[in-house]
Amino acid sequence: MNRIARIASLGHYLPSRVVTNDDLAALMNTSDEWIRERTGIQERRFVDDDMGCTDLGVEAARQALAKAEWDVTDVDFIVFATLSPDLYFPGNAVLLQDRLGMREVGALDIRTQCTGFVYGLATADAYIRMGLADRVLVVGAEVHSRGLRLTDEGRDTAVIFGDGAGAACVEVADEEGPSRILSHSLHGEGKHAGELCIVKPGSADSPYVSAEQIEAGLMAPHMNGREVFRHAVTRFPEAIMEVLEAAGLGLDDLKVLVPHQANLRITEMVGKRLGLGPERVISNIERRGNTTAASIPIAFSEAVDEGRIERGDLVCLAAFGAGFTWGANLLRY
Ligand code: ACO
Repeated sequence: MNRIARIASLGHYLPSRVVTNDDLAALMNTSDEWIRERTGIQERRFVDDDMGCTDLGVEAARQALAKAEWDVTDVDFIVFATLSPDLYFPGNAVLLQDRLGMREVGALDIRTQCTGFVYGLATADAYIRMGLADRVLVVGAEVHSRGLRLTDEGRDTAVIFGDGAGAACVEVADEEGPSRILSHSLHGEGKHAGELCIVKPGSADSPYVSAEQIEAGLMAPHMNGREVFRHAVTRFPEAIMEVLEAAGLGLDDLKVLVPHQANLRITEMVGKRLGLGPERVISNIERRGNTTAASIPIAFSEAVDEGRIERGDLVCLAAFGAGFTWGANLLRY
């Protein structure tokens, strides 16, 4: 018998503090109009002082576990995707394992930024297909708000990112059932690493980090927005077509696309290039901002809760992000 995997359940968690564009305009030289027009974002969530990235992941994971009716002891592998970990090391996966009181299972952190959940789901599927695990918890969580420069100098990226978490319970599946993960496409092209990155702290050159470098904003995201846009609108469609072709399916078969919520303009351009109308492309960036590795599981989980995605529907998840990395997963939910 071939082993296949499926998503048993999804969960998401957002901190309660809503930060509007006007709230940001009170801190820096920006405006609601500029942010909406360039990114589609109206508001995002920021954590309060008592919450960290693992805390968000724990809440999303608890919700996914409850929906799958799994006990924490059922999980036999953890994948945690984030670019804003609690600590430089160890990774968030072991922190989550401890917080949830899990068994001493494998705990893997994924560092492919906005593409983290897509890589994480592909990893979970591969582990299950190989017989290395039966039940994998995949989490994407981010706390951006503490790393942004909420000043004029940081305004190009500060207005884009938000905090939140999503999670999926992935399990070995019945071949006759309606749900299964079908195909993946994963890519990277490191020559563009400098176009979207956080430079410090880092061991590439000395010092690891200095007061001057912190003052210069090197611990905040650096983005060449135009290059990101140019590559994203090409790479998203490529990855989507690759997973469809690998499964012997076409765009007409697709119920919905759940793209990484990078920027509404990117999402709209991708939909246009593929001929997918807004009713077939999930977007929540208006209310959530860009939550990088958390954006796909949050959008996916919300779409399931709203009844926009049902069991057996053909769903494509696709992402593009720092690295550059990009990729897609195709599945029947
Ligand atoms: N508010 C007001 N003005 C701003 C802000 C802001 N928050 N940020 C930058 N500006 C100013 C700049 O200083 C610049 O001013 P200048 O012309 O006086 O030098 C001007 O706006 C730049 O304007 P445009 O060139 O018109 O900006 P552009 O149209 O390139 O839009 C943007 C910038 C939105 C970043 C665009 O390049 C884009 O959409 N890129 C995609 C990148 C993206 O969305 N990444 C998401 C995160 S990465 C990921 O998830 C993959």
